[in-house]
Formats: sequence, structure tokens, C-alpha cells
Amino acid sequence: MAPKTVSVAVIGAGMAGRTHANAWRQVGTVFGTEGVPNVRLAAICDAYLPFAESAAKSYGYERATADWHDIVAADDIDIVSIVVANRLHREIAEALVKAGKHVLCEKPLTDNLDDAKAMAEIEAGADVVTGIGFGYRRHPSIAEIAKLADEGSLGQVMQFEGRYWCDYGADPDVPIAWRYKGPMGSGALGDVGSHITDVAEFICGPIKAVNGGTFATVIDKRPPAVEGVSGGRGATTGAEATETVENDDIAKFNIIFESGAIGSIGVSRVAFGLPNSLQFDVFGTKGRASFDLARSGEITLDDTNSPVGLRGPKQVLSGPDFPYYKGGSSMDFSGVGNTQIEQFTYQCRAFLDSVIGLDEGLPPVPSWAHGYRAMRIADAVARSAADGGATVEID
Ligand SMILES: NC(=O)c1ccc[n+]([C@@H]2O[C@H](COP(=O)([O-])OP(=O)(O)OC[C@H]3O[C@@H](n4cnc5c(N)ncnc54)[C@H](O)[C@@H]3O)[C@@H](O)[C@H]2O)c1
Repeated sequence: MAPKTVSVAVIGAGMAGRTHANAWRQVGTVFGTEGVPNVRLAAICDAYLPFAESAAKSYGYERATADWHDIVAADDIDIVSIVVANRLHREIAEALVKAGKHVLCEKPLTDNLDDAKAMAEIEAGADVVTGIGFGYRRHPSIAEIAKLADEGSLGQVMQFEGRYWCDYGADPDVPIAWRYKGPMGSGALGDVGSHITDVAEFICGPIKAVNGGTFATVIDKRPPAVEGVSGGRGATTGAEATETVENDDIAKFNIIFESGAIGSIGVSRVAFGLPNSLQFDVFGTKGRASFDLARSGEITLDDTNSPVGLRGPKQVLSGPDFPYYKGGSSMDFSGVGNTQIEQFTYQCRAFLDSVIGLDEGLPPVPSWAHGYRAMRIADAVARSAADGGATVEID
């Protein structure tokens, strides 16, 4: 029988940590209440205590701590979201799993392949629920396009063209942060490229190989960070730029799917004027579907259903027939739309369902093994780039 209460903690109270904190707070407000336990908001941790304290206050968590070991040691916590720098994921995840906690870890799984492999192995030997936060799978408009592709409404899918262009690093005065450290491929590719690549596989199936891997680091030095920088956005120090940027500002590569479809992906963190531009087009033999995060509440469809002469791209508003939409908000009718924020809530609900064994038809959160596979794709892009754009198979 499902427990009456489950207790949750969030490690990391930066940009995405606050979004997890909010999602756990909302998790019982969507898709009905039957079989859903009380979710107790137990603790928020951030190494910079003022962030933990303000997030705990804003989102109604009972306590705040600066040391993640407190969360590991706490015997009143069942589920933990890890939402800190990628290089910290493995150590924290390992300790939490050992302590018997269910762990939802943010993407990318880590910042290097060895740690990602280790996490997949930890998962295989664990008797707790583990998952990775590829939350765009829960965006109603993206999930609808995946459904259209899967049911054959677009015909045979032939091409996927995706981009995730952001400008959080466009200003050279934005200080150094964890996002700018690590091997090539752990920059824009790991940060936002992991999302759009996962969306590509979600819609078109497994990627078999990549080629044309290319990286660019446009701003190679940044000023030092002030205490408690979050999200890598906006904060400037005015100090001289002395810290070295180690990884990619821009990444581009081609993809070859197992199905025979092909495509390309381009990602950036220095795309001037585009704070958060995830866009893609999927072309099939009988139709085309497109999505733009800036127009989150709609998809663009072009197919053979309209009479010849009246064909062309049409705007389809997201609505209750799209996945996650019905019951997914307090205003679940067409035209209201959803944002990136709600997909975190749906993700937490799916994770909660797995923890308590409740089947509400929500697809489970992807595993750490899947996260390891995603890291192998990123590694293949890096190897392609290092070898002049050579084709590299995903092993
Ligand atoms: N799924 C998504 O849409 C999405 C969006 C943004 C970020 N992310 C992921 O979330 C993670 C965090 O990203 P972010 O943008 O929130 O970063 P961030 O820099 O805004 O926040 C990270 C926080 O971790 C804290 N921190 C640093 N070391 C710590 C430690 N040892 N213990 C506890 N806290 C510590 C920092 O003080 C900071 O507040 C990354 O893995 C990132 O890839 C996912």
C-alpha cells in the first residue's frame, strides 16, 4: 500500500533547484489526487546558505542546510532531487542511493563519461528509484509531436533539425561558473545540447551515429565569480577577465538515426538576444511538425489532410487532447498553454508514481542508464570534432 506521506528534499537552490522545489510543491495539484500521498517538503540544501534559506522560505520547505551530507544522513527524507553542477552529481547520487533515498538527478548525468558509467552501475545495483531530468519529454507540445511521429501521422520521419540557442554567456562580463569548466562537449553541448538531442531521440528514435562535430569557444576568458552566482545569468562583476573558459560556447553536429532518418543539431550559449530558444522541425513523408519554445502553447503542422491548394503550415493550439494537458493545470483548456515550468511538475509526478507504485499512465522518468547513453552521444560528438568531423558510431 502507498505510504500516507513521502518526504522530499532538493539539493541545489539555484535556477533549476528552485524549479524542482516548486515542482515538488505542485506535484499533488495535477492529474487528480487518487492514490497520491501527502508530499512533505522537508529540506533544501545549497552550499551558499542564503540561497537555501530563501528557497525554503519561498517554496515552503521546513528546513535549509548548506551541507548535502545532512540530507544523506536525514532519516526523515525519502526522495531527493540533485540540482547542482554536473561534476557533483555522481558523489552526491552515490551517497544518497547508499542511504536508501530515491534520486531524481538533473541532466546531463555528469560532466564525464566515467562518472556517468559509474552512475548507471550504481543504478543497476540499487533497490531505489533513480531517474534523470530530461523534462522536455513532458512538454505537452513536444510530447504531442512525438505522438504524431509515433503513430505515423507524419508518414515516415526522414529529417530532424533542432537547435537550442541561448544567450546566457553572450556578455563577456558574465562571470565564470561551473558551466564554463570541464572538457569540450561539457559546455553548451552538455548544458542545452543534451536536451535537444534527447528531444530528437524522443521523437525519431535512437541515434546511431554522429558526424560533422564542431565546437567553438568564442569568449575564452571571463571575470571571477562573486559569491553565490546562480544560473550563470546576468550577474557581472566588473573585474578583469582572468579565468579560462574550458569548454564549448557553440556546438554543431549531424545525426544519423537507426531508422535511417538524418538531421542536425546546433546549440549555443552565446546566441545574442535569444535567452532560451529551443526549436525544431520534424519532416516526414506525409507531413511536417515544428515547435518553438517561445510559442510554447502551440505547434505548427503541415500535412496532407487539407485539400490540395489549401495546404500549408497551420497553427494548432495545445489543448486537452495533447499529452499531460488535461488535468495538468488549473486552467486546462486550449489557448492557455504550458511553459517549461510545468514540465518539471509532471516529471516529479511521474517519479513519485514510480516510487509509490502508482500507475497513472505517465511514462517513467528516463533512467541513469539512459543518461549514460546520452553522455555517449555527447562523447561521440566530441570525438567527431577531434577527428575533423569524422563519423562516430554510438556504442
Ligand atoms: N532540466 C532543465 O531544464 C535544467 C535547466 C537548468 C539547469 N539544469 C541542470 O540543473 C543543474 C543545476 O543547474 P542550475 O542552472 O540550477 O545551476 P546554478 O548554478 O543556478 O545553481 C547551482 C547551485 O548549486 C549550489 N552548489 C554548489 N556547490 C554545491 C554543493 N556542494 N552542495 C550544494 N549546493 C551546491 C550553488 O550555490 C548554486 O546555488 C545542472 O545539472 C543543470 O544542467 C536543468
